[in-house]
Amino acid sequence: MKSIITLALLHIINISLYAEPMINNVINRNTTSLNGKWNIIIDPYDNGYYDYRMQENPWGFFRNQKPTDKSDRVEYDFDCSETLNVPGDWNSQKAELLFYEGSIWYKRSFDYTLNNGKRLLLWFGAVNYRADVYLNGKKLGSHEGGFTPFYFDITSLIQDKNNFLIVRVNNQRHPDGVPTINTDWWNYGGITRDVLLIEEDSIFILNYHLYLNNQNPNLLQGWIQLNDKIANEKIQIDIPELKLSIQGKTDENGIFVFESNVKHLVRWEPLKPKLYSVFLRHRQNVLKDNIGFRTITTAGNQLLINEKPVFLKGICIHEEMPMRKARANGYDDAKVLLGWALELGCNFVRLAHYPHNEYMVRMADSMGLLVWSEIPVYWTIQFGNRQTYQLAEQMLTENIRRDQNRACIIIWSIGNETPVHQERIEFMKNLALKARQLDPTRLISAAMEVHVNPSDPFTYHVDDPLGEYLDVIACNEYVGWYDGLPAKTEKIKWQTKYNKPFVFSELGAGALFGYHGDSLTRWTEEYQEYFFTEQIKMLQQIPFLTGLSPWVLADFRSPRRQLPGIQDFWNRKGLISDQGQRKKAFYVLQKWYQTIK
Ligand code: GCU
Repeated sequence: MKSIITLALLHIINISLYAEPMINNVINRNTTSLNGKWNIIIDPYDNGYYDYRMQENPWGFFRNQKPTDKSDRVEYDFDCSETLNVPGDWNSQKAELLFYEGSIWYKRSFDYTLNNGKRLLLWFGAVNYRADVYLNGKKLGSHEGGFTPFYFDITSLIQDKNNFLIVRVNNQRHPDGVPTINTDWWNYGGITRDVLLIEEDSIFILNYHLYLNNQNPNLLQGWIQLNDKIANEKIQIDIPELKLSIQGKTDENGIFVFESNVKHLVRWEPLKPKLYSVFLRHRQNVLKDNIGFRTITTAGNQLLINEKPVFLKGICIHEEMPMRKARANGYDDAKVLLGWALELGCNFVRLAHYPHNEYMVRMADSMGLLVWSEIPVYWTIQFGNRQTYQLAEQMLTENIRRDQNRACIIIWSIGNETPVHQERIEFMKNLALKARQLDPTRLISAAMEVHVNPSDPFTYHVDDPLGEYLDVIACNEYVGWYDGLPAKTEKIKWQTKYNKPFVFSELGAGALFGYHGDSLTRWTEEYQEYFFTEQIKMLQQIPFLTGLSPWVLADFRSPRRQLPGIQDFWNRKGLISDQGQRKKAFYVLQKWYQTIK
């Protein structure tokens, strides 16, 4: 039976891998950073893009030369224009850009001597929302989607001196986008993550996935993919601490699929993260990574890590540093946000509502925090639009191919609070199937809504038909905030039609730190504290509950949240304030989590 499964997996891998060449583990490759100050031109009317005269060979706009026209008619000049820091959102860098939605042209020049026979890639960690990239006057291509990496091969275009790199970034929201025009977070625009040059041999290891077989934890499996379809290339995988060395050759697709028995492997565990140094060897090159190995299975409503049931003590996190009012990025920010989650007593974090930066995921890996990773199929996207589906599938692929070696990730989420109708079920079913094809080793979920029949107002049903296609059932509920007062929880009866792990992916209430009053005065810390006290009583009565990730770790910015003197463009459901202060509810949840083993 296993051999049939392996062959099937092999077939799936061959088909799926070459549909989307994605590079991973960039952090450990031979890179040169292009981070720093880039010159910018703010272009709200998109003159630089739509002017009919500004085709591929415009007035020097994409070339490092002054326009041929000598008149003083020219009205822009990158080299004496303002700058923005890269990586970084533009909203937090200039007051006049706080609400800006439009195009900004970024430019930086650089020298680079590429050694003979080498290949050079230009890689972006993320650009929100759309990027059009030009090098030395040539358009390299475009990327849509604000939270996943992309790259271009610039080997044939690079010159030793004065390469002229231009990026048009546009963060305008679109009805057919992912997300669509309506969200509950700040639309931070810009080159929000690292920009790197990656130097590789002409043939190199592009991507790989190493994992324990979930049904046979003594079996290490996986695949290594080269950047080209070249057969018979020798590949070696070394894990010195296990005294393990696996050798093999690529097939006609440039892929080496392997499996090997492993002995004495120490599993990655929640809050006890064991990471192994793994060395991937091809020709004279060695690519190192730090990888944890564990199994994930389910049994009824139990979620098992390494064959042991786990209750998910979680919290939702946006990718934002509240004290800076800016996108979070880098290990330092990750340490703060995930440190707060550990302090709260979490073993699980839901990284909402989009793929966070890789530093966050690698930090969770090294802290032993289980991760729910999500793409921004959020609310009312255009489920009947084929291009919108392709875009969602592209983001899912980019997310999985970047992070598939991070043991901490146990759930790939394909969306949040999407309306129940046939087009959406078809859309999400196909996304779930794609996720399984890309990564058969993890669980698939989505944050759904509960269903209440008006004739029976206190029975809450977990019965979204999408659940048929998911491994973990998850719902957002706000009983006591959007839905009645906190005491309403006493009347609620929960029912599920699924015999699968069940998680409350959101529950929460707002409070302004330092605003005090009685427990029924909305927006006080006491109301939020009372909300959590009543919620916990209800949660403890739900026999099929596998875990929760309350909304939300810290107050975050949102244009929807404007109540003067209370919200002021902040969503106040954080357990931690926008200045990093713990609200009273933080300690209620922390106390309960401490009682759960
Ligand atoms: C929704 C949504 C969140 C939003 C939250 C809220 O459930 O998923 O993105 O911020 O509710 O209303 O605060």
